[in-house]
Parts: sequence; C-alpha cells; structure tokens
Amino acid sequence: MNIALIGLPGSGKSTIARQLGRCLKVGYLDSDSLIEKRLGCPIKKYFEQHGEASFRDIEEAVLDELTLRPGQHVVSTGGGVVLRLANRQRLRQRCRVVYLLCTPQELSRRLRHDRTRPLLQVDDPQARLHELFSARDPLYRETAHYVVETGRPTVSAVVADILAQLNLVPAQPGRG
Ligand code: S3P
Repeated sequence: MNIALIGLPGSGKSTIARQLGRCLKVGYLDSDSLIEKRLGCPIKKYFEQHGEASFRDIEEAVLDELTLRPGQHVVSTGGGVVLRLANRQRLRQRCRVVYLLCTPQELSRRLRHDRTRPLLQVDDPQARLHELFSARDPLYRETAHYVVETGRPTVSAVVADILAQLNLVPAQPGRG
C-alpha cells in the first residue's frame, strides 16, 4: 500500500518522502511535480493565469491516479490537497497517511525567502500561514492515520519516527 505525506507548505513533505522511499527501497512520487509536468508550467504561473479552482481540478485528477498506482510508493502531496472531500477520502482509503505537523511559526521561518508558493505571495505571509494552519489542521488530522512532528528534529529523525509509527523497518542495504 502507498504511504502518503500530507501537511502545510514547508513541513518537509518532499524531502521526507524522498528519504523515506530510499530507506524502504520503494518509489517516490511527488504530486506537485507531476501536476507541473501536466500543466507544462510552474504551479505559480498556472494559478495566476487560470485561478485556484482550475488547479484544484487537476490536483484531484492527479491524486486519483497516483493513489491507484500499483506497487508501493511514498507519495508527497501539495499542502491544499485536503481541501476537497474526495481527496481526503481517497487518501484515507488507499494510503497509509502521515500528517507532518509543524507550527506556523516554524513554517514561516523556513519559508521566509520562498517566492514559488502562490498562496504565500502576500504582504503578511506569516499571518497567512496562521490562517492556513487554523483552516487545515483539522482536515489533515481527519485524513491522517498518523501524526508526526517535524518542527525541530532532523530529516533522519522524522523518517525514523514515521517508520516506528508505521511499524516498518528500513530495507537492508544492497537488497531489492
Ligand atoms: C498549495 C501548496 C503547494 C502547491 C500549491 C498549493 C497549498 O504545495 O500544491 O501551490 O494550497 O498549500 P506544497 O505544500 O508542496 O508547497
């Protein structure tokens, strides 16, 4: 079964998914990268030209496909994937879902120089992250089977925590 990582922008989904996939010797799939391939342009540009609703339609279609891929993968999702009920249901039914929990303060520290995320290109990105956290934290919790904190620890410590919660052991080096 696929493992899916959910959480706010900056919570480490892509980095941790890649590392977790390496550890388990399974594939890594990044939803935002696949969406960008399909759009043929960066998500930020697509948002500007076509609006958020159109982006969410494509995100839903890509998630549907990703979560049905045979074999085992670690899937990194976009931060807004939980906004649609259909996505929340598909994730929960088809994947073991891990919510990477991080405080808005830590996220705004990590993302202070970010220019790629369309929803954070506002006068007060810190306030925006607080709003996003309040609106989405309940949705992430509703969707996730496991909650893992990613505030202070290193990537390896977070990966170890996820493996422990999912009761998985890293693949042996050289095997598979
Ligand atoms: C979004 C998060 C982004 C990307 C898009 C929308 C959001 O992904 O899907 O810009 O609504 O929070 P990351 O969480 O990887 O930044």
